[in-house]
Amino acid sequence: MALLPILEFPDPRLRTVAAPVDPAQVTTPEFQRLLDDMFETMYDAPGIGLAASQVDVHQRFMVIDLSDEKNEPRVFINPEIVERDGEQVYQEGCLSVPGIFADVTRANSIRVRSIGRDGAPYELDAEGLLAVCIQHEMDHLAGKLFVDYLSPLKREMVRKKLAKQRRQSA
Ligand code: NI
Repeated sequence: MALLPILEFPDPRLRTVAAPVDPAQVTTPEFQRLLDDMFETMYDAPGIGLAASQVDVHQRFMVIDLSDEKNEPRVFINPEIVERDGEQVYQEGCLSVPGIFADVTRANSIRVRSIGRDGAPYELDAEGLLAVCIQHEMDHLAGKLFVDYLSPLKREMVRKKLAKQRRQSA
């Protein structure tokens, strides 16, 4: 397995709209290795979700694990939200926008149709943090970041803060 470099805002590659995964490709060793690498990268960061877009792979899939023990890995390939209900506000962060947290309003509960790592389709009802995380990662696949929900002024402040952080750690 290998740690993959994570792209950071405002890298324009994060704006790429991901292409659907060919379902026949899911069970190939290459794709399975990519999933393993994404989990390793996410756990190492550490984070609770990672979209392929964030590691410069522009295909529609993402990994999530909300457990403290890192033993509940979830894979979403070609995910689609087929139902959404209610609203919730959660203070989100993102491995591509390190050190920045901001309130985002999203659907409270969703039903997602997806393909799992075994190549089989499944549906999942999610609410609370899992629903937030799925919506956040699906945004990445559409080239969207959580800072896009902020005002242009706040987004510019985030960009400057990240640039400063990078200068200080260089
Ligand atoms: Ni993110």
